[in-house]
Amino acid sequence: MEIKKAVIPAAGLGTRFLPVTKSMPKEMLPIIDKPVIHYVVEEAIAAGIDDIIFVTGRSKRSIEDYFDESPELEMHLRNSHKDDLLKIVEDISSMVDIHYIRQKEPKGLGDAIMRSRKHVNGDPFAVLLGDDIIVNKTPCIRQLIEVSKKYQCSTIAVEQVPRKKVSSYGIIKGQPLEESLYILEDIVEKPSIDKAPSDIGAIGRYVFTPEIFDCINEAGIGVGGEIQLTDGIRMLNKMQKVYAYKFAGRRYDTGDKLGYVKAIIDFAIQNESFGSQVKDYLCKKVD
Ligand code: UTP
Repeated sequence: MEIKKAVIPAAGLGTRFLPVTKSMPKEMLPIIDKPVIHYVVEEAIAAGIDDIIFVTGRSKRSIEDYFDESPELEMHLRNSHKDDLLKIVEDISSMVDIHYIRQKEPKGLGDAIMRSRKHVNGDPFAVLLGDDIIVNKTPCIRQLIEVSKKYQCSTIAVEQVPRKKVSSYGIIKGQPLEESLYILEDIVEKPSIDKAPSDIGAIGRYVFTPEIFDCINEAGIGVGGEIQLTDGIRMLNKMQKVYAYKFAGRRYDTGDKLGYVKAIIDFAIQNESFGSQVKDYLCKKVD
């Protein structure tokens, strides 16, 4: 099973981040000097993906501009001999082959993924949500690809979530198979805590066999009047095995304000040029 294509849905409205997301996609929020989406694309590339399909919506032009060439800026940096900056800017536009598809209306994550069906063209593929940053030496999506290759199946990334957050996730019921790996038995979108089958939730990384498209179609409209990916996974699990993998790594949900702030703090502390100053500053603040 070769996985070379990745779909990055980034067409949501980002209501948790209003008002800034009124005119700017949450995927472009900066973590110091790089937008969130840059880290997501880097993860895909580090996992061997060479073809990326962005599903974008209205007011998402800045994502396309970010990954495009910027001739005026490049010329300015060249003329002023700012070679380091020039390299950074040029590298971004030559990172990988990127295609853009529009989701006309934000009808849910399942619907966003459906938009990529033609381009995916019957191949197994990866999905990386544009607002989850996951830090680990082995990229999270690479970990899922390894499981999918070994078992020739779809694999979803999961993690234990705090009890009060259970109703915000797709929650799984799984049969443990080996260290960190479950055979999926069921998955429920945003269950109430008393109805949740566990406290293990699906997060923004997946590898799918192409049958997921028919399953999303068949599942139709779900919770909140949206076409839910979770319902498609549930349907897929009825016809073929799906695995859930407790990935190794630190995840930042940057679509959530607290998750975003945590990402900024951690990345700032680790910054080579000013990390120690940030640490000193924070220590003085909390004293
Ligand atoms: P979220 O539910 O986190 O995104 O979807 P949202 O709807 O933009 O966020 P809030 O809750 O209103 O703040 C997870 C991912 O799926 C994409 C989002 O862009 C995000 O990357 N998505 C969601 C779509 O592409 N289309 C949709 O219709 C919904």
